[in-house]
Amino acid sequence: MKKVITYGTFDLLHHGHIRLLQRAKELGDHLTVAVSSDEFNLGKGKVCAYPYAERAYIVEAIKYVDCVIPETSWEQKIRDIQEHQIDIFVIGDDWAGKFDFLKEYCEVIYLPRTDGISTTQIKEALSSPPTEYK
Ligand code: CTP
Repeated sequence: MKKVITYGTFDLLHHGHIRLLQRAKELGDHLTVAVSSDEFNLGKGKVCAYPYAERAYIVEAIKYVDCVIPETSWEQKIRDIQEHQIDIFVIGDDWAGKFDFLKEYCEVIYLPRTDGISTTQIKEALSSPPTEYK
């Protein structure tokens, strides 16, 4: 069985997230998603609309996802790959090259991001909503 892992915040879930998870699952048979904890996000200056428990609950309900674990540090990836016997690490290409050091432990794949959508964009749109539909 080929096991895949990916990492992310997955706040205000959108179709870019779903497309990433769908393609990640298609690379193997089992997909683990490490959802970043609120404390870990705060360390990156990110404040989520939904707390960890709700983001994990939502991601776990997605049909492509087999297992959710918390992401609490930058350093945990090698341990996760070994503990979960991961074959492929996958993440969006906004991170291209950043995780090449994991190639010693498993295959590393950067998937093209979906254009035109991000959690940041949703937050910005909600704070200044358009007055009419395009
Ligand atoms: N992702 C993607 N396409 C998008 C947005 C995100 O493929 N349009 C991918 C990211 O590359 C990452 C995963 O989804 O592998 C989780 O990304 P996350 O940072 O949670 O989502 P963003 O929408 O990028 O959030 P933010 O705007 O807060 O950075």
